[in-house]
Parts: sequence; structure tokens; C-alpha cells
Amino acid sequence: MSSKLTTATARACANIALVKYWGKRDALLNLPATGSLSLTLAALSTQTTVTFDPALAADEVELDGRVAPAHRVERFLDLVRARAGIATRARVVTANDFPTASGLASSASGFAALAVAASRAAGLALDPRELSILARHGSGSAARSIFGGFARMHSGDRDEDAYAEPIASPLLDRVRMVIAIVGGGAPKARTSRDAMDHTAATSPLYRGWLELVPHDLEIAERALAAGDLVALGELAEANAFAMHASAFAARPAIIYWQPATLAVLEEVNRLRASGVAAWATIDAGPHVKVLTTAADAARVQAAVRLVDGVTAATISAAGAGAS
Ligand code: PMV
Repeated sequence: MSSKLTTATARACANIALVKYWGKRDALLNLPATGSLSLTLAALSTQTTVTFDPALAADEVELDGRVAPAHRVERFLDLVRARAGIATRARVVTANDFPTASGLASSASGFAALAVAASRAAGLALDPRELSILARHGSGSAARSIFGGFARMHSGDRDEDAYAEPIASPLLDRVRMVIAIVGGGAPKARTSRDAMDHTAATSPLYRGWLELVPHDLEIAERALAAGDLVALGELAEANAFAMHASAFAARPAIIYWQPATLAVLEEVNRLRASGVAAWATIDAGPHVKVLTTAADAARVQAAVRLVDGVTAATISAAGAGAS
């Protein structure tokens, strides 16, 4: 290993949480404070190539064709190196087919792809649960992107207990997400990592959020098992608003929404009132992702595209796991 190049390429899709992860129980191990539940999306993917190269003095990262800061990747690769018993530095070339770091979950697909490519290039053969645990160290949501379709993250008190696993549901082939980009997908002002820590430290509503999530997870899992899209959609929308309420109440406030974010929410309400399947969710950015069906997706896309301030709207089906 030390005298030659070893390389591997992986692809992973982003995921959008229907029950959000917002806050940590352990910053060092990156253990989430609660579980979460998500849908992996085919339309948002990252491809990453990792090459361990004995000629390198330091890790190098290229993101979307440009040299990028290596700090977070380096810390992640240190975990892989420790496990593989190597010291070789790596070149990481990664590209997203969607806007990076703007609340579109690029850290989820990014660290899932990095976990698969780096572990393989280092000669490790990790199973999906081990990959999920490894990906979690890069980004909590990345643990879920190891899997396709619906995935459930377990919070866990110890490193080995905090992983995601896939959940089967009769809804899988029927669901679609319409991703409405607000404000052109410009990079967000505040990372989710920083914002969730600030919410946990200062928001008087954070305790309520922690109490809510286990109940919401139960409702979501029941809805998935029963194939009840209405119950799942209503729950997902309410859960996202509760997460943002806790962030709004942080001191000072964290507000990711823009005027067009609210305008899309109004449009989603109108669509629903006219019988269209449509429920909104929002992450650490201004964009709105609308949970809908294969039958209604084109109508949702056409409607949200017309909202002032929406610069693009993409339809996605469920995506596959990292490979
Ligand atoms: O995995 P992170 O640190 O990027 O945090 C993800 C936070 C949310 O996207 C807002 C919620 C979630 O569960 O994906």
C-alpha cells in the first residue's frame, strides 16, 4: 500500500429528511441528539474519487473543479487511515450535480461518497452499517445517504449504535420530490453544523424539539409501513416547521427563509386545497422540497416554477444507495 497508488470512485445521492436531525448529543463523535428519517433522491448526486498517493505531503481536495479547503476531509480521512493502518495522504476529486452547500444536502451525498471511496481505496471492506457509521463522522445526514429510498437514523449513545438503515415502504415507487430552488442556489450564510449547535445552546424551544422527534418518528414509520402518503406528508411538513421554529427562537435568531420560501409554501397550500398531493419541507437554506406523487409531480413543478424568486424546480424520484 505504501509504495503504490490506490484509487476508488463512488457515487452517492443526497437525502432529504422527513423527520429532521437538528442538534448533537456528542460533538466529538458527531452523535445526533435524536433519530431522523429521510428519502434519498436520485436527482441530487455526488461523485468522488479518492487516490492514496505516497508522493503527497498533504491531503488535497478538488470540489467542482476547484481547489477546496481540506480540513474537514483531512479529519475524515484520518479516521479511515487509522482504521486501515496507513499514513498515506490522498487526493480527493469530488463533483456535485447540484448547488453545493446551499441547503441541498451536499454534505450528505458528499460524505457518503467519500466514506465509500476512501474506505475502498484504503483497502477496507466495510459493510453498509459500518459505512453509515463512518459517513456520520463527516456529517450526520450522510449516514442516511449510504442507503437508497427511505432510511431511518438511530441516535445511539455509542459510536457503533448511531447508524442508519433502510426502511421498506409501499410508497417508494410512488413518491417524488420537487426541489424548488430559491435565490439561485447561492452558498448559505451559516452551516447546519453551526446553526444546530447555536439552536441547542440558546433556543428556549430546543427542549420541545427534542421531546417531539421520537413521536414524529413513530408516526412517520407507521405511515411508511401503511403506505399512507397523506399521513407522511402532513407529518413531514409539521416536523420541518417545528425544526425551523426552534431555530427562529435561537438568540440571535437563525432564519433561513426568504420571501420566496414563504411564497412557495403558500403555493403548496393552494395545490393541496385543489386536491394535489403536496407537502413542503425545508432544510438549512431557503429552498423548498415538495413531497408529492409521480402522478402529481409535473403539476407541482409547473406551479412552483411560476413563484417569484424560484429559479429552478427539479423533480426527483427516490435514489439508490451509495456505490
Ligand atoms: O448533516 P448536516 O450536519 O449537514 O445536518 C443536516 C441538517 C438538516 O439538513 C437541516 C436536517 C437533516 O436531517 O438532514
